[in-house]
Amino acid sequence: MKRYYIEGGNRLYGMVKIGSGKNALLPILAGCILIDGVTTLLNVPRYSDIDAMLEILEHLGAVVSWQDENLIVDTRVLNSHDVTLESAGKLRASIFTLGSILGRMKLAKLAYPGGCNIGLRPIDLHLSGMRALGAKINEKNGFIYGNGSQMKGGEFILNFPSVGATENIIMAAVLTLGKTTIINPAKEPEIVDLQDFLNSAGAKISGAGSNIITIEGVKSLHKNIVYEAMPDRIITGTLLIATAMCGGEIELENVNFQHNQALISKLSKSACQFDLKRDKIKMKASGRLKSFGEVDTAVYPGLPTDLQAPIMALQTISDGACVLLENVFEARFKHVPELIKMGADIKFKNNVCIINGREKLYGAEVKACDLRGGAGLVLAGLASEGYTTVSGIEYIDRGYYKFEEMLSKLGAVVRREEY
Ligand code: UD1
Repeated sequence: MKRYYIEGGNRLYGMVKIGSGKNALLPILAGCILIDGVTTLLNVPRYSDIDAMLEILEHLGAVVSWQDENLIVDTRVLNSHDVTLESAGKLRASIFTLGSILGRMKLAKLAYPGGCNIGLRPIDLHLSGMRALGAKINEKNGFIYGNGSQMKGGEFILNFPSVGATENIIMAAVLTLGKTTIINPAKEPEIVDLQDFLNSAGAKISGAGSNIITIEGVKSLHKNIVYEAMPDRIITGTLLIATAMCGGEIELENVNFQHNQALISKLSKSACQFDLKRDKIKMKASGRLKSFGEVDTAVYPGLPTDLQAPIMALQTISDGACVLLENVFEARFKHVPELIKMGADIKFKNNVCIINGREKLYGAEVKACDLRGGAGLVLAGLASEGYTTVSGIEYIDRGYYKFEEMLSKLGAVVRREEY
């Protein structure tokens, strides 16, 4: 078994170039299913969730290869429409392939998705979206069966702007003739990125990032696509929070600071200094930060739920009290008992945490129970007195590629070890 060993108390200095984001790449990889050709994705970090998605594509018949950091996905010949229990169980985003499998092959059989246990995570919106386009969807014995032979453009109103459901419906509509409109879609930058990717392949999608997305179905997409997905805004945010906690000065390249505006404005008010350029963020942090006071996670452009655990870690050592509301997932506080082991003062009930900032945390043996919660624990370890071990790092590997190398480059003492 592997864990992180962390010696706390080092300031962070230096530069990191951010790679393409996991949450942008996963729907784009699902989108490759729509392409009867070869897609080259540039600058792809090897998050383990990417490998899990590639396993699904390979099972469908795709041929996948790597050239350094570029990923080549050949989807000319697909000979299966079946996403097995073994591969679907590895990640939630396996459900993102439903729309594109139906769009390309008109038949789909998917096992229910797995992924981090951060709440109920139903898929009702994904399935109703497919039905709104005329797909026949049946659920039986743990599988979702879809028949898309009668699909045509339609209208779907999302009662909650689910990121995955929005992406899935877009993909279902790309090769479905007629006009599809999605009302109240998610507005996350990853939706805009998926639109840009699919449009670069010849799709006709407009409105991503706004309240209505329109897709005009096309008969086929281009054969050769080269695309670089947007930078990872959650890793960007994680490194900013890490530096805010440890003190220091970092420079992040290949970023879009507007994607992290909600976090940057909170950190600016808590005594971090920023120098923002089009694709670069410089941040300096010295001394103890002021608490955020009141903070809640929300859909974009609000504070992302994926940064809730790192933000909580920061609040545990900030000056003052913080009331933190988790508004997107109902069971995303598994890191709380672990932070308390490190000396944090946190009370929680339902989706609310009250955090009284302490002068410092103390190293402890803690366990990651999900991806972003694990990242929060690593940050707590970096900023605490003494040493910390974080087990369960297979969760962290899902969305942070060689996190220890990234942090060590900035001067942190963190290594991956067997135990
Ligand atoms: C995506 C991200 C994840 C992020 C989340 C919210 C990827 C691969 N993952 O997940 O990192 O935390 O967006 O920004 O991009 N819901 C339903 N019915 C559905 C679908 C969702 O009720 O059919 C609910 C969920 O239970 C949750 C909320 O909607 O409470 C948000 O989920 P959603 O936006 O769909 O998140 P994901 O796409 O799974």
